[in-house]
Amino acid sequence: MASQYSTKPAPIGVFDSGFGGLSILREIRKELPQYDYIFLGDNARAPYGNRSYQLVYEFTLQAVKHLFAQGCHLVILACNTASAKALRSIQQRDLQDLDPDRRVLGVIRPTVEEIGNLTRTRKVGLFGTPGTVQSLSYDIEIAKMHPDIKVFSHACPMWVPLVENRESDGPGADYFVKKDVDALMAQCNEIDSIILGCTHYPLLYDKIKKYAPANVNVIEQGPIVARSLKDYLKRHPDMEERCTKGGTCKYCTTEDASRFSPVASIFVNQTVEAHHVIL
Ligand code: DGL
Repeated sequence: MASQYSTKPAPIGVFDSGFGGLSILREIRKELPQYDYIFLGDNARAPYGNRSYQLVYEFTLQAVKHLFAQGCHLVILACNTASAKALRSIQQRDLQDLDPDRRVLGVIRPTVEEIGNLTRTRKVGLFGTPGTVQSLSYDIEIAKMHPDIKVFSHACPMWVPLVENRESDGPGADYFVKKDVDALMAQCNEIDSIILGCTHYPLLYDKIKKYAPANVNVIEQGPIVARSLKDYLKRHPDMEERCTKGGTCKYCTTEDASRFSPVASIFVNQTVEAHHVIL
């Protein structure tokens, strides 16, 4: 069956529920500046962290279809919640119908692959949204790949709203970050690495570092996902050829673009002029 989407080379799609995915996009563009990108944030419906499997799946599938319709052959779900709750169904079921030659990749697997090299005590902490933590995706993947590592998880339902509402530098953020770091570390004092398993959390990095014990390594996913994508494109030259190279990035949001653009500009450290889209 012929694909319903354009076969012409196109930008790489990067999707998140909101602003958090920009922390991944920024690192991807540092590592792979030559490609074109389309970023899509579903800000109008963020946060996803407390939503049901069905809704996260439906919203994520809508976003993937939108990016395919823009021509993207490769879409990165720069969102742990979507990677945990929607990626497998999209990869195993929907791609067959949509276009078996297109690819959707997530952020959990590359992080899990890397964690084995980062922990000495084999006791790893995980911060994530309630959805990511309850899905047990990290526990399951880490148990498969590194059976000697024990994972201690803690959900931080307040952190995404703090970031989405630009309160990540304020005193409210101090209160919640300290409370959640203390709760995680109380589970095991041998944790030597903490995965920031939500792409919004790098915006709280300084505060997490401030309240975590000094010897604990706080792991951001951006550089890990960027290196993994670079490796993927090297191993899949057929896909690499279908990614256009112009160094551009188009930003799209389901929110009002005039609300998205100024905040996104701070995240990526350059002027963003976003487009409003309806999924
Ligand atoms: N940034 C996303 C993640 O990595 C989702 C946050 C949310 O929408 O709750 O999990």
